Order: sequence, then structure tokens, then C-alpha cells
Amino acid sequence: MYYPEEIIEEVRQRTDIVDLIGSYVRLQKKGSSYMGLCPFHNEKSPSFSVQSSRQIYHCFGCGVGGNAFTFVMEYENYSFVEALKYLAERAGVKLPEIEYSVEAKQAADFKSRLLEVNKLAAKYFYVQLKSEQGRAAYEYFKNRGLTDETITRFGLGYSSKYSDTLYRYLKQQGYEDSFLKNTGLVTLDEARGGRDKFWNRAMFPIMDANNRVIAFGGRVMGEGEPKYLNSPETKVFDKSRNLYGLNYAKHSRKPYMLICEGYMDVISLHQAGFTNAVASLGTALTGLQANLIARYVKEVYLTYDSDGAGTKAALRAIPIMKEAGVSVKIVNMKPYKDPDEFIKALGAEEYQKRIDNAAGSFFFELQVLEQGYNMEDPDQKTRFYHEVAKKLVGFSDEIERSNYEEAVARQYRVDYDMLHKLVNKYGSQMIVVQGQAVPVTQTEVGRRSALAKKEKEQEKDGVTRPQKLLLTWLSTDTTKFKRIRGIITPEDFSEGFCRTVAEMAFTQFEQDGAVNPAKIINHFEDKEEQTMAAALFSTEFREEMDAAGQKKAFEDTVRKVKQASIEQRIEAAVETGDMECFQALLVEKNRYKNQFPIPE
Ligand code: UTP
Ligand code: MN
Repeated sequence: MYYPEEIIEEVRQRTDIVDLIGSYVRLQKKGSSYMGLCPFHNEKSPSFSVQSSRQIYHCFGCGVGGNAFTFVMEYENYSFVEALKYLAERAGVKLPEIEYSVEAKQAADFKSRLLEVNKLAAKYFYVQLKSEQGRAAYEYFKNRGLTDETITRFGLGYSSKYSDTLYRYLKQQGYEDSFLKNTGLVTLDEARGGRDKFWNRAMFPIMDANNRVIAFGGRVMGEGEPKYLNSPETKVFDKSRNLYGLNYAKHSRKPYMLICEGYMDVISLHQAGFTNAVASLGTALTGLQANLIARYVKEVYLTYDSDGAGTKAALRAIPIMKEAGVSVKIVNMKPYKDPDEFIKALGAEEYQKRIDNAAGSFFFELQVLEQGYNMEDPDQKTRFYHEVAKKLVGFSDEIERSNYEEAVARQYRVDYDMLHKLVNKYGSQMIVVQGQAVPVTQTEVGRRSALAKKEKEQEKDGVTRPQKLLLTWLSTDTTKFKRIRGIITPEDFSEGFCRTVAEMAFTQFEQDGAVNPAKIINHFEDKEEQTMAAALFSTEFREEMDAAGQKKAFEDTVRKVKQASIEQRIEAAVETGDMECFQALLVEKNRYKNQFPIPE
């Protein structure tokens, strides 16, 4: 961490989390906390809680949480340092000049210079578009149905027909060749000097989720190869991690996003009011992009080209999105090629209807599968049903599978019982790996490890839940520390993350007489860790219990934590063969057996 802890803590103390989050989310006071609709997942009733006393937030629906820093990092997609700068400015705290290492400073400078030059280039292209030289390009956009407002919103531009105008302009602005050669905007050649990468093209600046121009796409106006020329990857442009249009789509407040293939599709959709459209940048959708989407929505509609390539791309994207926890539907745009053409031909209302009638990914996969079989031929039809049954085995949730069996039976007019039997037959021969059914024999090893993992997770949950509950309790009511004195120490918490957090909490209590979860969270720079830490202090317990009920619940929790801790240490002693320790632990186990008393 570059900034001293005191400064970070000062910024945090001067930031009221209810105030901060309240400027993004509508919050209502409920008991001791504020509740609102979670901005990180779609929900109809509020499960997003912000606590003024402890200066943390936590969503009981999707599990996100943290302190003011985490919130800004999550919502604005900022790094820790960016969040710190943002909150410092908001709170009127002046950050000290930081002594970066030379390399760190150079890297940071280099990146911000890249962003700066991209912004300058985008402006330059925009001015060109609006000037006399850019007339053809302007007309090109107009002919494609774009309004001036849309052109401005997406910062569209034109790269002049001479091959070094931008290069000369950037030189004039003081950028040296050694820097420019890394921007992706120019190529330098000993013989010919500097040349623009883009010339005589309609320009599409590519922005990241925070509205920073990170690259460009340039389209030939008319026919020509390549149709779109794109910036190469640079220190600020990794196309597998960005989505075109996300800077706007993330604010659309719709519970789903539309994913399409092209720049023009995104722009047309936004212009038609579908401001939740994004496009992967001329490549197959990546897991990183899927995770990025998953931060904002839990459902997507693929609106890929309605040709063979588009179908293939959709089939590839489905498991990637599902893996990221996002459900998928597929929009049928036939007989039109892409959303841009569809909207131009039939308009936004018809497009909305196609969204409303989009097929779930499972039925889309079946439709594609069906095309490989001649359903008039009894043999082929039989084979098709067998394949369908195998696919149904892929649903590991029994209710879900049964619902799909029913739906398939209805849609394909097969007898439900017959289909169900067939599914069960395959079910006993196959196991599900990542949502796909595969034959048992090949995957015996995989199955065992999957089962072991699941068991381990359940076991872990049985241990960590009481620990979390206890931490939550200790941070809300410090008199509880007195009651666990002599029984529970940080060593009773699971090794690793949980114990580190517990140690901090116990130390804070010793030093300040109180636990400050928001401060603890600040020790972690990584957003995932901040969320994990917030979750440790935000376990749900029933506040409405009466005093006796609460007392009993608390005591049970303490016992569970203590007993699990002893069991774990016994296991470790057995493993290492430390008999002395083992004996001592047996004595301890005996002392803390069953309903051992907890002093008042
Ligand atoms: P399409 O060829 O479907 O483009 O490529 P489009 O969006 O329909 O283009 P228009 O409507 O003819 O203008 C989809 C996306 O693939 C990338 C671009 O991101 C494009 O938007 N692509 C395509 C390239 O990067 N290079 C190409 O040569 C073609
Ligand atoms: Mn198109």
C-alpha cells in the first residue's frame, strides 16, 4: 500500500457510509440499519443493508459487502488507490504526494499518458468529423440512421484521408516518437517516418467502464478490407477484459444486458432506447468479460448475428456466461442479420417483443441440436431424444431438471414418464461436471474429487458459520468479549483469513475497547478480501429473538466455535503424530464437552 494507513483511516472516518451509499442507492432506515435495493444484483425487495454504527454494508441477497472503499471500488470499478483519491476529494482530505518507486511511477505515468493521448486523439477525430474534410464520414453515419446526439454520445469521429495528420498533430502537442510508438495510434518506420494507423475511416472510440478512451475501431466507409481496423493491445487496452458500451450499460438499471457482436449494433440499440446493450470487441466472449457482466446483472440476452457464425458464437458463449453465474436467453432476429438491421427494419417495439419471446439457452441448444436430425426418420428421431435426455441429466437440481423434463415433454410432444425414465437411466450412468453430463467411467476420478470438495465445503460451512456469527456478535456488542474471556481466543478461528480478521478484532478491543469492522476491512487492498471481511461481520441473526433466546443462541455459538476448534487441533495432532499435544487436547475436549457453562 502506497499511502500511510493513518491517511486512509482519516479518509474513511471523514466519509459517512450512509451518506456515500445514499447518493447512489435509495436507503430507508430500518431498525439499527439502512436498507435499500442492492445495486449489484437485481432484486425487488431490499436486502442491501448499510450500517451506520459499524460503517459497513452487506447484501444478504448476493453476499457483496465491505466499507466505503469497497463500495466505490465495486460500483465505479476503481482500484483501491482510485477509490482512495475519490473519497479523499469528496471528504476534503488532502493526500500527501507519494514517493513511488521509479518503476511504479514510470508505469503509472505511462498509463495515464496513454489515456491522455487516446482522449486527445478521440477529440481530434471528432473535430475532423464535424469539419469539412469529415463530411463523407458524417454522411456515412447519418445514412446509417445515427442522430447527432448519438454521434456525440459515442464520440464518433473521422480519421483524415492523409496518412499522417494525427501523427503530426500529436508531435505538435509534444509527444515524442519513443512514446507514440506504444500507443497503437501510429507506426514508425525509418524510411517513411511516422504514419497514422487509422486513415480515412469512420472512427469508434472504445471506452472502458469508467468512460476512459482505451482504444479505437475504424470502419471503412463502404466496401473494403478490413471492414473494421482495431487498435492493437496496449498497456491500457486488453480486449478480453472490456466490453463496448459498458460505460453506459452499467447505468441502465435494467436487470439484464443485451450482448451483441458489433459496434454498430450497440449504438443502434442504445439509440433505440436499449441502453443496456454491450458488445464483446470483435472476439468470442471471454470468461473475464462474463465476470465483468456478472457484477452488474444476473441475466443476459444474446443478440448475435442470425447466421451460422452467430449461432456458433452463441453456443460458445452460453457455458461461459453460466459459469459466471449468469443465465442466458437468445434473441431470434430472423429474417434480419443483426440488431442494427432489425431495428432499422422493424423498430424498437418489435425488437422488445423479440426480447420478451427469447428462448432460454437450454431450448436454444435443443433447437440447434434438432437441426442435425431428420425428425421424419424414426431412428434419427430416437437418437435425438436420447441426446435430449443426456442433456437433461446436466441439471443437477432435481426440481429444475423435472421442470425441464416437463417443458421438453410438452414442447416436443413426448410422453413425460418415458422421458423421465430415460433421463434417470442416463443419470445413473453419468455425472454432471460443470453443468454437463458425462459418462461415469471416464470421470470416476473427477466425480470423487467433486464429491470430496462438496463435502468439504459443507463441513467448512458448519465450522465457519458459527465463527462468523461470533465475530458479528462481538463487533455489535462488546460486552460479549467479557463472556468469552478465557474460553475463546483468535486461535479458535480457522487458520488463514478468518483468524487474521479475528486477531485484528481482538486487538482492537484490547486497545480501543471496541471493534471497528470498517477499519479492519481497510487492511485489505483486494476487493474480494474486503468483501470476505465484511461478510464475517455481517452474518444474519434473528434480531427479533427475545433476550433469553439471544442468550441461548450466543452460548450455543460460543460452544460450537470452541468445540470445532478443539476437533480441528486434534485432527492436526493426529496427522503430525504429536501424542503429547493429543493428550492435552483430549483433556481440553473433556473440559469443553456438551453444554459446558459460559460465565455471565
Ligand atoms: P460485423 O461484420 O458483424 O460488423 O462484425 P457489424 O457491426 O455488423 O458492422 P456493420 O454493421 O457492417 O458496420 C462484428 C464486429 O466484429 C468486429 C467489430 O467489432 C464489429 O463490430 N470486426 C468485424 C472487426 O474487428 N474487424 C472486421 O474486419 C470485422
Ligand atoms: Mn451490422
